[in-house]
Amino acid sequence: MSSKSKVLITGASTGIGATYAKRFAERGHDLVLVARSVEKLEANAVELRQQTGVTVDLLPADLTTEAGLLAVEARLRDDASIGILVNNAGSNVGGSFVTQSIDDLTKLVTLNATSVMRLSHAVAPRFAEKGEGSIVNISSVLAFAPEWQTSVYTATKSFVLLLSQALQAELGPKGVYVQAVLPAATRTEIWNFVDEDKRPPLMEVSELVDAALVGYDRREPITIPHLHREAFWEVLEAARLTFLDDTSHITAANRYLKAT
Ligand SMILES: NC(=O)c1ccc[n+]([C@@H]2O[C@H](COP(=O)([O-])OP(=O)(O)OC[C@H]3O[C@@H](n4cnc5c(N)ncnc54)[C@H](OP(=O)(O)O)[C@@H]3O)[C@@H](O)[C@H]2O)c1
Repeated sequence: MSSKSKVLITGASTGIGATYAKRFAERGHDLVLVARSVEKLEANAVELRQQTGVTVDLLPADLTTEAGLLAVEARLRDDASIGILVNNAGSNVGGSFVTQSIDDLTKLVTLNATSVMRLSHAVAPRFAEKGEGSIVNISSVLAFAPEWQTSVYTATKSFVLLLSQALQAELGPKGVYVQAVLPAATRTEIWNFVDEDKRPPLMEVSELVDAALVGYDRREPITIPHLHREAFWEVLEAARLTFLDDTSHITAANRYLKAT
């Protein structure tokens, strides 16, 4: 039992989520690990308990199902020792928009977007009431890459980014920290559906998570570990705000006025 807040991590069986679990355990946080694969969660938990001595609870759940979402929501609402939520579970579907099945795409949206909204919504009132707590949402740089032809995946990651920014505006003043992490290509099983010789250069997962945690410790709103020139992000944000500022007119732009 640790005096530090407990961390609930979704998608903690492999990849980025499993690495977050390891790092938070090394920092002395007790954990609640969520994913479908009980065997992988159990193996991770055994190792983490042995190596760090923290308490690790397993909460196996399929976050594309109502039952799975309800179970994790209930834990987030009822377990007051959980002070950090890492919305990491995510997936992709091979093929293009016209070849992907609507069933697969609907599940993808439920996992990558709806689960982030629902789990954040389950925990946010408690965090806001207490005036502390952290929500870490794993988005992607693909949130800015609609032309890369991963249509629905891209749209879900854009949702996660904008939801995170909206929650920063709403919950930040109440003492709740919300971080959006935008990885680019990182070596995890998510790439398994792409032939090895067709994969881009990949960052190692420990490098990604360690950098994301530097951003977390600095209370950065947006953390983009692969981005070397931070100024590019600042220019993008400044352009977004300037763009928004210019949408407050009550007359249509000249280019849309009918020629007389
Ligand atoms: N790796 C990259 O290049 C990259 C880049 C940008 C963003 N991301 C994002 O990073 C996050 C983690 O991905 P990763 O790269 O670490 O992929 P990964 O190695 O494939 O891990 C995905 C995790 O999500 C869990 N998961 C998948 N479907 C689930 C479901 N229906 N219900 C509950 N859990 C489920 C998996 O566990 P089970 O299979 O046991 O359920 C696994 O723990 C995702 O949100 C992904 O979109 C990754």
